[in-house]
Amino acid sequence: MTHVAIIMDGNGRWANALGQPREFGHRHGAESVRRVVEAAPDHRIDTLTLYAFSSDNWGRPAPEVSVLMRLLRRYLRSESAELREKGVRLRVVGRRDRLTPALVRAIERAEAQTEGGRRLLLRLAVDYSSRDLLVEAVRRAAESNRLERHDIANLLGQAMNGGGPAPDVDLLIRTGGEQRLSDFLLWECAYAELYFTDVMWPDFGGEHLAEALAEYRARDRRFGKVAAAS
Ligand code: IPE
Ligand code: IPE
Ligand code: MG
Repeated sequence: MTHVAIIMDGNGRWANALGQPREFGHRHGAESVRRVVEAAPDHRIDTLTLYAFSSDNWGRPAPEVSVLMRLLRRYLRSESAELREKGVRLRVVGRRDRLTPALVRAIERAEAQTEGGRRLLLRLAVDYSSRDLLVEAVRRAAESNRLERHDIANLLGQAMNGGGPAPDVDLLIRTGGEQRLSDFLLWECAYAELYFTDVMWPDFGGEHLAEALAEYRARDRRFGKVAAAS
């Protein structure tokens, strides 16, 4: 079973290259989410974590932030029934106290509606900052004097509303050409395979996911040990 995480980057540049406003890219980006969620179970992906909005993204111009929030709400409202039908369980990970009440309600509804999904756990990271979550997890760990690795993983899962311990990432994909983590899943990516592609997120589809998975499966993950055959 495989946990894939994706930094969905490049919406704005994709739109600008077409002479369109950044919002146009975000709208098309939502279509890529649909395609990837649809394709994921075929690749034996059981957990898919998508970076939708970082805590630092609050620093963008207000109109862009509100478009992103509106798209998110629309996605949750329009997709929940289909996700449920496909056996997808949705969780939104990150802070909720800075989201509008309407968005929080949409999140809670979508999570409740898809709770029984067993084919794929889809985690959408919204108002997400890996560092802030680590600080919160460590604070809770210190308060309860539970400071082992598994305690941190459990408390990190709790701090992000993850519905369980924070699962290690097997493969991290970033679209859009940049090669950085941008405060995403710093703890969980300790041994993640990293895959960077120049494909912009609105162009990303099932075939790109298949390519990334094929490369991932061909890699030798040693976890600090030596290869089996040597
Ligand atoms: C990713 O695309 C979407 C979010 C970060 C919300 P960007 O909006 O970062 O697009 P670029 O990277 O500026 O092209
Ligand atoms: C990371 O992309 C956040 C998301 C994809 C949601 P950014 O576009 O915000 O990251 P930087 O600014 O290039 O590091
Ligand atoms: Mg970007």
